[in-house]
Amino acid sequence: MISRFAKQCGGVTIRATELCLAFVLCASAVGCGVSSDDGYDPHLRYANRSDPIVISVPANQPTTAPDPLKLDEFLSALPSLGAKVVLPAELPLAQRDQLKQSLDALFGTPAVPILPEGIAAVGTLSLDAEMLAKGSASYRIRCSSCHGMAGDGKGVSAGFPFPRDFRSGQFKRITGVAQNGKPRIADMKRVIRGGIPGTSMPLFDLLPEDNVDALAAYVIHLSIRGEVEATLIRRLHPDSEEDVADITTTARVIAAKSHRQWLEAQLPDATHSQPVLEGGMLAQSVRQGHVLFKANACLSCHEAYGKTTTYRYDAWGLPNKVQNLTQPEYHWGREPADLARHLRHGIKPANMPAVQMKESDIADLVNFLRALPFPAQLPADVRSEVERPATGRSP
Ligand code: HEC
Ligand code: HEC
Repeated sequence: MISRFAKQCGGVTIRATELCLAFVLCASAVGCGVSSDDGYDPHLRYANRSDPIVISVPANQPTTAPDPLKLDEFLSALPSLGAKVVLPAELPLAQRDQLKQSLDALFGTPAVPILPEGIAAVGTLSLDAEMLAKGSASYRIRCSSCHGMAGDGKGVSAGFPFPRDFRSGQFKRITGVAQNGKPRIADMKRVIRGGIPGTSMPLFDLLPEDNVDALAAYVIHLSIRGEVEATLIRRLHPDSEEDVADITTTARVIAAKSHRQWLEAQLPDATHSQPVLEGGMLAQSVRQGHVLFKANACLSCHEAYGKTTTYRYDAWGLPNKVQNLTQPEYHWGREPADLARHLRHGIKPANMPAVQMKESDIADLVNFLRALPFPAQLPADVRSEVERPATGRSP
């Protein structure tokens, strides 16, 4: 602890700890004109989770997106529409206190984040205390305003689409072979470096490599911590039928399982490749892709190819916009390999389903999707169908 402060103060001796502490507090509380990666106030602890955990969503899909600053009210109202939701406040106070103590002991504080013993490395990425502290300091100034201090996605600058809530351990950009909800480090780094087009997720393309590595490590920390917390809240809830003999022991088991998933997620999937077609061959493939698009219920969600604005509940119980596929700004990449992956595996937290298709059909659908935002690339018969004005709900 002390050496960390000394380091933050530019190597001033240990005697200067108090001075440094004042400096850190001042920097985080009022800005003080200091824009460096000073990190969190060392006294700060992660707050108890208080927002609802959505177990199942209403049968009827939402028709609008809620106010980003009133998400908890929105989630709390879901049961009246038929959803199942767990409220952390319904746990006995003593259990909540005990949970907090266990989490603090296993995961540390925002300024000094740690992981339970035995969880030190994911793939080639180190998750040691030094790496996490560096990631946390960078996260505080670059990410917490949207993703929140504990990674709840409910920061003050959150807009729609809502920033990722890391605590569910579920992500959308996943290029690992395991497809277990966890991204590869490379996926997170691509998201951090490149941002997500069409959302407020900014690009941090000028950050040094080691800083991006540290940010990815810290996101893993928040995600594992959040998964442990949410799972325990569900199991400790008075309505739960599961037994929790000892909170800390159970927390370790859940953390180890999540960590294992992160490890398994790191192995990249086989790269999709398809022949590059031109002229009449391409037109025929696009036409066939259009037929497959209509035959595979894509239009049931992507109404009028997405030109009609529709919402579906996502894994967090929040309304998510169904992508307008006539716009070239895809969130998760427009490369054939990206699109083929979405088709083969779906986008699970968005409840976009996977399709069972042979390779050549996937290639046709990919060619159709790539041409869709550019009418000039569509064969005339396909174009006239696609361009038919959207009916029903407002655009
Ligand atoms: C201005 C708000 C904002 C800021 C600041 C921000 N994000 Fe995001 N972030 C978002 C939004 C919005 C999404 C996308 C949610 C979606 O479309 O599902 C997102 C998604 C993500 C994802 C999830 C990708 C996936 O596969 O699901 C990661 C990881 C992420 N952000 C990390 C970061 C990190 C690290 C920082 C800081 C360096 C950061 N974000 C800063 C808004 C923000
Ligand atoms: C049950 C509803 C549903 C069905 C059916 C569905 N999708 Fe989607 N799709 C979604 C949602 C929701 C998203 C937004 C994902 C996100 O959060 O980024 C999406 C996103 C996409 C994206 C964009 C990914 C990006 O990078 O932004 C593509 C491409 C796509 N869908 C293609 C298809 C195709 C092709 C079919 C039919 C085989 C299909 N979808 C069927 C709900 C659906």
